[in-house]
Amino acid sequence: MIRFDFSGVTKELINERGISKEDINALSPIIKEAHDILSSRRERGEILFYDLPYAKDTINQVKDLAGDLSGKFKNIVHLGIGGSSLGPKAIFSALKDPFHNYVSSPRMFFLENIDPEYIASLLDNISAEETLFNVVSKSGATPETASQFMVVFDLLKTRLGKNYKDHLVFITDPKDGVLRRLASAHGIRSLPIPKEVGGRFSVLTPVGLLPAAMCSIDIDKLLDGAAKMADIVTSPDVFKNPAYMYACIHFIAFVKGINISVIMPYSNALYDLADWYRQLWAESLGKKTSLDNKDVFTGQTPVKALGATDQHSQIQLYMEGPFDKIINIITVKHYRKDIKIPAIFNDINELAYLGSKDMSELINAEASSIRAALIKNERPTTQIEIDTINGETIGALFMFFEVSTAFMGYLLKIDPFNQPGVELGKQLTFSLMGRPGFEDKVKMLKDSLKTVEYMHIEI
Ligand code: PA5
Repeated sequence: MIRFDFSGVTKELINERGISKEDINALSPIIKEAHDILSSRRERGEILFYDLPYAKDTINQVKDLAGDLSGKFKNIVHLGIGGSSLGPKAIFSALKDPFHNYVSSPRMFFLENIDPEYIASLLDNISAEETLFNVVSKSGATPETASQFMVVFDLLKTRLGKNYKDHLVFITDPKDGVLRRLASAHGIRSLPIPKEVGGRFSVLTPVGLLPAAMCSIDIDKLLDGAAKMADIVTSPDVFKNPAYMYACIHFIAFVKGINISVIMPYSNALYDLADWYRQLWAESLGKKTSLDNKDVFTGQTPVKALGATDQHSQIQLYMEGPFDKIINIITVKHYRKDIKIPAIFNDINELAYLGSKDMSELINAEASSIRAALIKNERPTTQIEIDTINGETIGALFMFFEVSTAFMGYLLKIDPFNQPGVELGKQLTFSLMGRPGFEDKVKMLKDSLKTVEYMHIEI
């Protein structure tokens, strides 16, 4: 069970800063338009993420490969970045014990970055013989993942000779790209990412499913949860569709100047899900150009925070700072493990009241109190309460946020599925690293990086 409570954004609770039913009804024409675009693009097969829970062939391929690899490796190293890593990492953090890597195998490592210290240290601490490297890149050409792959490929060939390919899996485009070509040329095992599914919407493709299955996570449960949510969030009626409601609330808030969307789970296990959402919301909605080719420079900045930890870091700002945030609190009704606080120090007032309480009671009391205080301070606040963290609720949350994001994109009249803004940075990197065909960018780079003013700090 998941409960989306948006009382804390209504005029009833936060007065003039709130949203009324009339505000939502006034959006009817653009809600219909956004729904029609999503539905028709889906019908034309251009948007596939809703239907991934039913991709039986691919799901079976994932299960077969995970079965073949089972028990063979002490470590799995996931090579990938952005949408090719955040989803699987969110699943792993949510559904495996937080100390899994210390006590169990296969241990799972996500490289994500090209920080040489981090990668060198990891490679110093694992043995190639005991490790599977899962290389995930839809395009195959992302320089971060490509460089990681090249390091690993060379290492495997040096250490393992002709057995190198037993330690590699590729997850990539079904037909195109360099990884697909290498998979065919070297006979490396591979799984497809459907063309119609963009990176940040790919968590329920083999991108998220294979790492999960290799760690003995029941992927059917994830997919069941996502399918159940998909049934609900296809309704055209915003009052019956929680994902559309989430988007509409954010849209109305944004129009009123609320530029920041905070996602704040009261659960360490959900912190990487917040990170996944941060990418989804930012990369999908931050756009210069509208669907009708006008400059709009739109988007709402997602921020992740962790309850209760960030109550001692961020909450002062959220309570009293500018009225530029909507805060989305995620709470967990039943934690999978609990701890009783012992009834000791009964004669010390500052401690005695905690005795005999469950830690879950304390964290939920803190979430309720912060929510109430935010509302009291007229800060728009929603609550997503999940019964418990399991495959079904996590799968459902993925679908909920994906549909919310796509719908918000069409309310903003932009394309939520492209990311033209990341191109220039990539091209300048190519020019700096000497990739043929990008020489003309060198001048642009030098002009932008001219040293005009600086301070030298002697330490
Ligand atoms: O959402 C996206 O499309 C991006 O974040 C990509 O996932 C990211 O850039 C990695 O791309 P690729 O999978 O092609 O290596």
